[in-house]
Amino acid sequence: MAKLLVRDLAQAVSPAGTQAALRGREAMRSLDVVEDAYVLCDDGRIAAVGRMSDLGRVEGEVEELDGSGCAAIPGLVDCHTHAVFAGSRVGEFELRSGGATYEELHAAGGGILSTVSATRAAGEQGLAEALALHRSWMLASGTTTFEAKSGYGLDRETELAMLRVVRDAGGSPTWLGAHAVPPEFDDADAYLDFALAEVLPEAAKLAEAADVFLERGAFDAVQARRYLEACRAAGLRLRLHADQFTEGGGIPLAAELGAVSVDHLEATGPDGVKTLAASDVAAVLLPVAALFLGRPMPPARALVDEGAIVALATDFNPGSAFCESLPLVAGLACTQMQMAPAEVLAACTVNAAHVLGRADRAGRLAPGYDADIVLLDASDWRYLPYHLGGNHIAQVIQGGKPTA
Ligand code: NIG
Ligand code: FE
Repeated sequence: MAKLLVRDLAQAVSPAGTQAALRGREAMRSLDVVEDAYVLCDDGRIAAVGRMSDLGRVEGEVEELDGSGCAAIPGLVDCHTHAVFAGSRVGEFELRSGGATYEELHAAGGGILSTVSATRAAGEQGLAEALALHRSWMLASGTTTFEAKSGYGLDRETELAMLRVVRDAGGSPTWLGAHAVPPEFDDADAYLDFALAEVLPEAAKLAEAADVFLERGAFDAVQARRYLEACRAAGLRLRLHADQFTEGGGIPLAAELGAVSVDHLEATGPDGVKTLAASDVAAVLLPVAALFLGRPMPPARALVDEGAIVALATDFNPGSAFCESLPLVAGLACTQMQMAPAEVLAACTVNAAHVLGRADRAGRLAPGYDADIVLLDASDWRYLPYHLGGNHIAQVIQGGKPTA
């Protein structure tokens, strides 16, 4: 593979050091910033980052990319999405704009279950096509590494198909086998009997993690524990959707079980923050989901200041966060959650890669890491969060190759 030299960059910017995850204000704000920079990629990896004035002769076949006027940052990592789905919830979106709540729609059999019907009907090929479309939107927003969950099949065939299409698209698949109780089961326990006996053995071969929606109207803490313990025994890393609407004991459960992350946390109070700060469970914050549903923002400032591992993600899905843009997430994190731009960059690169178990390869612009790079058409990388709803993605390089 030819080398790629990105030259004459206004800046090359990366979370500093090699540590993952980064926790606390100081570590999360520490950046390596090289002005008037180049980035050299070789065989899909970053070979060197430095000042143009120090660039020597590059041997062999080299493709050059003019980065003048641009800031380079690591490819963004979206560690929480539901990007495999069919159908649309635009009608529900309109109902919610008129005052219906997400929980009411869910209780009435709409919400997640309406996406389950459409997803079951799509077939594996249809799901692969839907993911490819969503993936193209994500890439155009700077996401080069992504996770995507199942959870809209809730039968054996569709759950496994969802995991396969994520794997085949190069994503990190998460089995969200406990997302909702499908209509063919009377209650959550009967559904879990089925899911753990019939789906888990195959899902564990395809997925990297398991996830559960611990919430009033979905799965309670006892059911979540049962599901997660079985998934852990099958070798999966554990994640939870918790404290989205109510504090339901998800954080202590995550800490006890050694989960990788708890995600959402819009309803988390000071005790939950303390428990997370004292644990290795990452807090994955999803400010678009809070905004989209008119919920309070999660307590990001307290989580960072008290030393919890904090990551940011989109939660891209058709119901609670129809938004694939990590740059918008970054803008919301700065404006609504008082996170500093550098903390935000760490949270959607290194720390998100840590949640996916990929921090040795993804999330930094430094030698040895995957050559996944975003060029912003701004000479100051902070335009990423600053231009709210704007688009400064000039080029996305994945595996050392420009994608556009
Ligand atoms: O993370 N809260 C549960 N699951 C998703 C939403 C899924 C949907 O509404 O389709 C979430 O917000
Ligand atoms: Fe989610």
